[in-house]
Amino acid sequence: MLRGFLLISLLLTIAAVALLGFRGEKGTNEPWEIFPDMVRQMKVRAQAPLNFFADGRGSRMPVNGTVPIGYEMPKPQTAGAPESHSVAGFSVGPDYIDTGKMGNNWGTGIPVPVTAELLERGRERFNITCAMCHGATAAGNGIAKQHGLATVVTLQDDRIRKMADGEIFNTITNGKNTMMAYGPNIMVTDRWAIIAYLRALQRSQSAAIADVPPEHRADLEKPAENKPPEAKPAEAKPAENKSPAKPEAPKK
Ligand code: HEC
Repeated sequence: MLRGFLLISLLLTIAAVALLGFRGEKGTNEPWEIFPDMVRQMKVRAQAPLNFFADGRGSRMPVNGTVPIGYEMPKPQTAGAPESHSVAGFSVGPDYIDTGKMGNNWGTGIPVPVTAELLERGRERFNITCAMCHGATAAGNGIAKQHGLATVVTLQDDRIRKMADGEIFNTITNGKNTMMAYGPNIMVTDRWAIIAYLRALQRSQSAAIADVPPEHRADLEKPAENKPPEAKPAEAKPAENKSPAKPEAPKK
Protein backbone atom coordinates (compact mmCIF):
# COMPACT_ATOMS: atom_id res chain seq x y z
CA MET A 1 0.00 0.00 0.00
CA LEU A 2 2.61 2.51 1.15
CA ARG A 3 4.98 1.36 -1.58
CA GLY A 4 2.37 1.94 -4.25
CA PHE A 5 1.70 5.42 -2.90
CA LEU A 6 5.40 6.36 -2.84
CA LEU A 7 5.84 5.05 -6.36
CA ILE A 8 2.92 7.03 -7.68
CA SER A 9 4.05 10.26 -6.03
CA LEU A 10 7.58 9.74 -7.35
CA LEU A 11 6.24 9.26 -10.87
CA LEU A 12 4.04 12.34 -10.53
CA THR A 13 6.98 14.43 -9.34
CA ILE A 14 9.12 13.28 -12.26
CA ALA A 15 6.27 14.04 -14.66
CA ALA A 16 5.77 17.50 -13.19
CA VAL A 17 9.47 18.36 -13.32
CA ALA A 18 9.74 17.03 -16.86
CA LEU A 19 6.81 19.20 -17.98
CA LEU A 20 7.35 22.35 -15.98
CA GLY A 21 11.09 22.37 -15.36
CA PHE A 22 12.89 23.27 -12.13
CA ARG A 23 11.94 26.26 -10.11
CA GLY A 24 13.81 29.41 -11.21
CA GLU A 25 14.89 27.81 -14.46
CA LYS A 26 15.01 30.30 -17.32
CA GLY A 27 13.69 29.44 -20.73
CA THR A 28 12.58 31.01 -23.95
CA ASN A 29 9.14 29.41 -24.06
CA GLU A 30 6.14 31.28 -22.82
CA PRO A 31 5.38 30.21 -19.27
CA TRP A 32 2.32 28.14 -18.60
CA GLU A 33 -0.57 30.08 -17.24
CA ILE A 34 -3.22 27.96 -15.69
CA PHE A 35 -5.32 30.99 -14.76
CA PRO A 36 -4.20 33.71 -17.18
CA ASP A 37 -4.42 37.16 -15.63
CA MET A 38 -4.92 40.17 -17.83
CA VAL A 39 -1.18 40.70 -18.14
CA ARG A 40 -1.21 39.67 -21.77
CA GLN A 41 -4.17 40.93 -23.76
CA MET A 42 -5.10 42.62 -27.00
CA LYS A 43 -5.04 46.33 -26.33
CA VAL A 44 -3.97 49.64 -27.73
CA ARG A 45 -1.19 51.30 -25.81
CA ALA A 46 -1.34 55.07 -25.45
CA GLN A 47 0.48 56.88 -28.28
CA ALA A 48 1.51 53.59 -29.89
CA PRO A 49 1.08 52.91 -33.60
CA LEU A 50 -1.61 50.49 -34.70
CA ASN A 51 -2.32 49.33 -38.20
CA PHE A 52 -5.96 48.66 -37.50
CA PHE A 53 -6.86 52.22 -38.50
CA ALA A 54 -6.07 53.64 -41.91
CA ASP A 55 -3.94 56.44 -40.46
CA GLY A 56 -1.83 53.99 -38.47
CA ARG A 57 -2.45 55.68 -35.10
CA GLY A 58 -3.63 53.79 -32.07
CA SER A 59 -4.99 56.86 -30.29
CA ARG A 60 -7.90 58.53 -32.04
CA MET A 61 -8.33 62.26 -32.53
CA PRO A 62 -11.13 63.85 -30.47
CA VAL A 63 -14.37 64.18 -32.39
CA ASN A 64 -14.81 67.61 -33.96
CA GLY A 65 -16.32 70.06 -31.52
CA THR A 66 -15.22 68.14 -28.40
CA VAL A 67 -15.15 70.46 -25.39
CA PRO A 68 -12.70 69.68 -22.59
CA ILE A 69 -14.23 69.51 -19.11
CA GLY A 70 -13.86 72.80 -17.29
CA TYR A 71 -13.41 74.84 -20.43
CA GLU A 72 -15.19 78.19 -20.41
CA MET A 73 -17.21 77.81 -23.56
CA PRO A 74 -18.33 81.01 -25.23
CA LYS A 75 -22.05 80.83 -25.76
CA PRO A 76 -23.60 82.05 -28.99
CA GLN A 77 -25.04 85.45 -28.27
CA THR A 78 -28.77 85.39 -28.49
CA ALA A 79 -30.76 88.57 -28.32
CA GLY A 80 -32.20 89.15 -24.88
CA ALA A 81 -30.14 86.47 -23.12
CA PRO A 82 -29.38 87.40 -19.52
CA GLU A 83 -25.96 89.02 -19.11
CA SER A 84 -24.79 86.37 -16.67
CA HIS A 85 -25.03 83.77 -19.40
CA SER A 86 -22.82 85.44 -21.98
CA VAL A 87 -20.31 82.66 -21.31
CA ALA A 88 -21.12 79.17 -20.17
CA GLY A 89 -19.67 79.21 -16.66
CA PHE A 90 -18.31 76.04 -15.14
CA SER A 91 -16.09 77.92 -12.72
CA VAL A 92 -14.44 76.25 -9.76
CA GLY A 93 -13.10 78.14 -6.79
CA PRO A 94 -13.18 78.40 -3.03
CA ASP A 95 -16.04 80.90 -2.87
CA TYR A 96 -19.63 80.36 -1.83
CA ILE A 97 -20.91 80.65 -5.39
CA ASP A 98 -18.73 77.75 -6.52
CA THR A 99 -18.89 75.52 -3.43
CA GLY A 100 -22.01 76.34 -1.44
CA LYS A 101 -19.76 76.65 1.59
CA MET A 102 -19.14 79.61 3.85
CA GLY A 103 -16.02 78.74 5.75
CA ASN A 104 -16.55 75.22 7.02
CA ASN A 105 -20.34 75.32 6.93
CA TRP A 106 -22.96 75.16 4.23
CA GLY A 107 -24.12 78.65 3.49
CA THR A 108 -27.61 79.61 2.50
CA GLY A 109 -28.96 82.18 0.09
CA ILE A 110 -28.86 82.50 -3.70
CA PRO A 111 -25.65 84.36 -4.61
CA VAL A 112 -26.99 85.68 -7.93
CA PRO A 113 -29.83 88.19 -8.29
CA VAL A 114 -33.14 86.33 -8.04
CA THR A 115 -35.24 87.69 -10.87
CA ALA A 116 -38.22 86.39 -12.76
CA GLU A 117 -35.82 85.42 -15.58
CA LEU A 118 -33.65 83.44 -13.18
CA LEU A 119 -36.66 81.51 -11.89
CA GLU A 120 -37.83 80.91 -15.44
CA ARG A 121 -34.36 79.62 -16.32
CA GLY A 122 -34.43 77.47 -13.18
CA ARG A 123 -37.80 76.03 -14.15
CA GLU A 124 -36.51 75.13 -17.61
CA ARG A 125 -33.29 73.59 -16.25
CA PHE A 126 -35.11 71.74 -13.46
CA ASN A 127 -37.50 70.21 -15.96
CA ILE A 128 -34.59 69.16 -18.18
CA THR A 129 -32.17 67.82 -15.57
CA CYS A 130 -34.08 66.95 -12.39
CA ALA A 131 -37.74 66.28 -13.14
CA MET A 132 -37.26 62.89 -14.77
CA CYS A 133 -36.20 61.58 -11.39
CA HIS A 134 -37.59 63.94 -8.77
CA GLY A 135 -40.84 64.74 -10.61
CA ALA A 136 -42.20 68.00 -11.99
CA THR A 137 -43.23 69.17 -8.51
CA ALA A 138 -40.14 67.59 -6.89
CA ALA A 139 -42.40 65.12 -5.11
CA GLY A 140 -40.03 62.25 -5.91
CA ASN A 141 -42.27 60.64 -8.52
CA GLY A 142 -40.42 61.18 -11.80
CA ILE A 143 -40.52 58.71 -14.65
CA ALA A 144 -37.16 57.16 -13.67
CA LYS A 145 -38.62 56.24 -10.29
CA GLN A 146 -41.55 54.53 -11.96
CA HIS A 147 -39.09 52.54 -14.04
CA GLY A 148 -37.15 51.22 -11.10
CA LEU A 149 -34.80 53.89 -9.72
CA ALA A 150 -36.26 53.22 -6.31
CA THR A 151 -33.93 55.41 -4.27
CA VAL A 152 -35.17 58.75 -5.70
CA VAL A 153 -36.32 60.97 -2.84
CA THR A 154 -38.97 63.64 -2.62
CA LEU A 155 -37.56 67.13 -2.34
CA GLN A 156 -40.77 68.23 -0.67
CA ASP A 157 -40.00 66.88 2.76
CA ASP A 158 -39.02 68.99 5.71
CA ARG A 159 -35.42 67.88 5.71
CA ILE A 160 -34.82 69.25 2.20
CA ARG A 161 -36.96 72.33 2.87
CA LYS A 162 -34.72 73.17 5.79
CA MET A 163 -31.50 72.14 4.06
CA ALA A 164 -29.09 74.99 3.38
CA ASP A 165 -29.03 76.14 -0.24
CA GLY A 166 -25.29 75.50 -0.26
CA GLU A 167 -25.76 71.83 0.61
CA ILE A 168 -28.23 71.41 -2.25
CA PHE A 169 -25.74 73.19 -4.50
CA ASN A 170 -23.17 70.63 -3.43
CA THR A 171 -25.56 67.74 -4.10
CA ILE A 172 -26.15 69.04 -7.62
CA THR A 173 -22.42 69.60 -8.21
CA ASN A 174 -21.04 66.38 -6.72
CA GLY A 175 -24.03 64.05 -6.40
CA LYS A 176 -25.03 62.21 -3.28
CA ASN A 177 -25.09 58.45 -2.64
CA THR A 178 -27.09 57.04 -5.56
CA MET A 179 -27.53 60.42 -7.29
CA MET A 180 -24.74 61.16 -9.71
CA ALA A 181 -22.98 64.52 -10.07
CA TYR A 182 -24.54 67.13 -12.34
CA GLY A 183 -21.73 69.68 -11.93
CA PRO A 184 -20.20 68.87 -15.31
CA ASN A 185 -23.58 69.32 -17.05
CA ILE A 186 -25.06 72.36 -15.37
CA MET A 187 -23.44 75.77 -15.30
CA VAL A 188 -22.85 77.36 -11.91
CA THR A 189 -25.50 80.08 -12.28
CA ASP A 190 -27.96 77.50 -13.58
CA ARG A 191 -27.40 75.40 -10.47
CA TRP A 192 -28.41 78.41 -8.37
CA ALA A 193 -31.33 79.07 -10.71
CA ILE A 194 -32.50 75.49 -10.15
CA ILE A 195 -32.25 75.91 -6.38
CA ALA A 196 -34.25 79.16 -6.52
CA TYR A 197 -36.90 77.37 -8.57
CA LEU A 198 -36.86 74.37 -6.24
CA ARG A 199 -37.56 76.72 -3.32
CA ALA A 200 -40.51 78.12 -5.28
CA LEU A 201 -41.76 74.57 -5.90
CA GLN A 202 -41.47 73.75 -2.23
CA ARG A 203 -43.37 76.90 -1.37
CA SER A 204 -46.04 76.09 -3.92
CA GLN A 205 -46.70 72.69 -2.38
CA SER A 206 -47.06 73.97 1.17
CA ALA A 207 -48.88 77.25 0.64
CA ALA A 208 -51.43 78.42 3.18
CA ILE A 209 -54.40 80.64 2.51
CA ALA A 210 -52.52 83.45 4.25
CA ASP A 211 -49.97 83.39 1.41
CA VAL A 212 -52.63 84.50 -1.06
CA PRO A 213 -53.11 88.28 -1.15
CA PRO A 214 -56.57 89.06 0.29
CA GLU A 215 -57.83 90.54 -2.97
CA HIS A 216 -57.16 87.26 -4.77
CA ARG A 217 -58.61 84.86 -2.22
CA ALA A 218 -62.05 84.99 -3.79
CA ASP A 219 -60.47 83.72 -7.05
CA LEU A 220 -59.68 80.43 -5.34
CA GLU A 221 -63.39 79.68 -5.09
CA LYS A 222 -63.93 80.06 -8.82
CA PRO A 223 -64.07 76.91 -10.90
CA ALA A 224 -60.86 76.38 -12.82
CA GLU A 225 -60.82 77.73 -16.34
CA ASN A 226 -59.01 76.08 -19.20
CA LYS A 227 -60.11 72.63 -18.29
CA PRO A 228 -58.27 70.05 -20.36
CA PRO A 229 -60.57 68.57 -23.01
CA GLU A 230 -62.30 65.46 -21.77
CA ALA A 231 -60.82 62.26 -23.06
CA LYS A 232 -63.16 60.33 -25.33
CA PRO A 233 -62.60 57.32 -27.50
CA ALA A 234 -61.67 58.08 -31.07
CA GLU A 235 -64.52 57.55 -33.52
CA ALA A 236 -64.31 54.21 -35.20
CA LYS A 237 -63.98 54.98 -38.89
CA PRO A 238 -62.57 52.82 -41.62
CA ALA A 239 -59.14 54.13 -42.54
CA GLU A 240 -59.37 55.95 -45.84
CA ASN A 241 -56.54 55.92 -48.26
CA LYS A 242 -56.47 59.63 -48.87
CA SER A 243 -53.67 62.13 -48.66
CA PRO A 244 -53.98 64.19 -45.50
CA ALA A 245 -56.01 67.36 -45.92
CA LYS A 246 -53.82 70.35 -46.54
CA PRO A 247 -54.35 73.37 -44.34
CA GLU A 248 -56.11 76.05 -46.34
CA ALA A 249 -54.01 78.95 -47.40
CA PRO A 250 -55.18 82.17 -45.80
CA LYS A 251 -57.44 84.05 -48.19
CA LYS A 252 -56.35 87.44 -49.30
C1 HEC B 1 -31.07 60.09 -12.35
C2 HEC B 1 -31.94 60.50 -11.30
C3 HEC B 1 -31.72 61.82 -10.62
C4 HEC B 1 -31.61 63.05 -11.20
C5 HEC B 1 -31.64 63.40 -12.67
C6 HEC B 1 -31.48 63.98 -10.12
N1 HEC B 1 -31.49 63.33 -8.92
FE1 HEC B 1 -31.44 64.18 -7.08
N2 HEC B 1 -31.48 62.37 -6.23
C7 HEC B 1 -31.58 61.18 -6.90
C8 HEC B 1 -31.52 60.10 -5.96
C9 HEC B 1 -31.58 58.64 -6.31
C10 HEC B 1 -31.40 60.70 -4.68
C11 HEC B 1 -31.27 59.99 -3.34
C12 HEC B 1 -29.81 59.85 -3.05
C13 HEC B 1 -29.58 58.95 -1.88
O1 HEC B 1 -29.58 59.46 -0.76
O2 HEC B 1 -29.38 57.76 -2.12
C14 HEC B 1 -31.39 62.12 -4.89
C15 HEC B 1 -31.29 63.05 -3.87
C16 HEC B 1 -31.37 64.41 -4.05
C17 HEC B 1 -31.35 65.38 -2.98
C18 HEC B 1 -31.28 65.08 -1.51
C19 HEC B 1 -29.86 64.93 -1.07
C20 HEC B 1 -29.76 64.63 0.39
O3 HEC B 1 -28.93 65.28 1.02
O4 HEC B 1 -30.47 63.75 0.87
C21 HEC B 1 -31.43 66.61 -3.56
C22 HEC B 1 -31.44 67.95 -2.85
C23 HEC B 1 -31.48 66.41 -4.99
N3 HEC B 1 -31.45 65.06 -5.26
C24 HEC B 1 -31.58 67.41 -5.91
C25 HEC B 1 -31.54 67.21 -7.29
C26 HEC B 1 -31.53 68.28 -8.25
C27 HEC B 1 -31.63 69.76 -7.91
C28 HEC B 1 -31.45 67.70 -9.48
C29 HEC B 1 -31.34 68.38 -10.82
C30 HEC B 1 -30.18 69.17 -11.03
C31 HEC B 1 -31.41 66.27 -9.28
N4 HEC B 1 -31.46 66.01 -7.94
C32 HEC B 1 -31.35 65.35 -10.30
C33 HEC B 1 -31.69 61.01 -8.25
C34 HEC B 1 -31.63 62.01 -9.19
